Amino acid sequence: PEDLLFSYDGILYPAAFSSPETLEALKSFETRSSDVILAGYPKTGTNWLEQMVREIESTDAKYTEEEMKERINAEKELQMFPRLEFGDPGVFEILLLVRNPKDTAVSYYHFYNNMPVLPSFASWDEYFTAFMNGKLAWGSYFDHLMEWNRHIDHERMMMISYEELKENPVLGMKKIAAFFGFSLSEEEFSRIARKTSFQAMKEKSKETHGKFGDILFRKGVVGSWRDLFSEVQNEEMDQKFEECIGGTILATKIKYDIYCK
Ligand code: A3P
Repeated sequence: PEDLLFSYDGILYPAAFSSPETLEALKSFETRSSDVILAGYPKTGTNWLEQMVREIESTDAKYTEEEMKERINAEKELQMFPRLEFGDPGVFEILLLVRNPKDTAVSYYHFYNNMPVLPSFASWDEYFTAFMNGKLAWGSYFDHLMEWNRHIDHERMMMISYEELKENPVLGMKKIAAFFGFSLSEEEFSRIARKTSFQAMKEKSKETHGKFGDILFRKGVVGSWRDLFSEVQNEEMDQKFEECIGGTILATKIKYDIYCK
């Protein structure tokens, strides 16, 4: 049914997770210089990144437990931030997570159809059209990428990709820690990598995410788009990606030619 979603500033949101009032209130959300924002389109691995950052933060012991709690609450609320404006540059740090758009689309398809609070699609083809047109909860992935690409050179912003975290989680976490100013030992990074592996997080998912655990921790691999994309859909997405963000720094970071061809 249509009332599972509502539209705000031209973008759809799930009524179960948000409300026009919350989105309105976010416009005057007060940030502090110590705040950290984790930004990511749905299904780019946001739960994984959040877990890694929490582990890094709590291992370094740079913050007291009270400070940590405050910072994490702010992160949670800001995840919902629809369009961020850097009115006052340098007030906080932003870590942007990206994932190749083909795997993101496939992951979101399964999520959409498995989550009772989201409408279902009758077929992959029908869903694909909606994804390409941004007619999904939290809007268009392409718009999201274009919007963030405008801020890419900001000194307080860093970008990391799902694929690079998969390839070398320790290296990815080292970059994240350096950006936020945390210092951890080699053993601590290895311990966190084990603790945040797909298998480990999936095993704990009943505890951490209740009945949504199995939906959230589905496959955790790179390249599962190959099972669903038709030749025509492949070309359509290649073209759209090129049109929207081809030649940008963000496109280079996503490594489209490696992961989507
Ligand atoms: P798949 O559906 O491709 O398996 P989000 O947290 O933003 O909703 O993203 C969910 C995606 O991240 C899912 O992708 C999920 O399996 C994957 N994921 C979650 N935890 C992960 C982990 N520890 N390592 C790798 N991938 C993970």
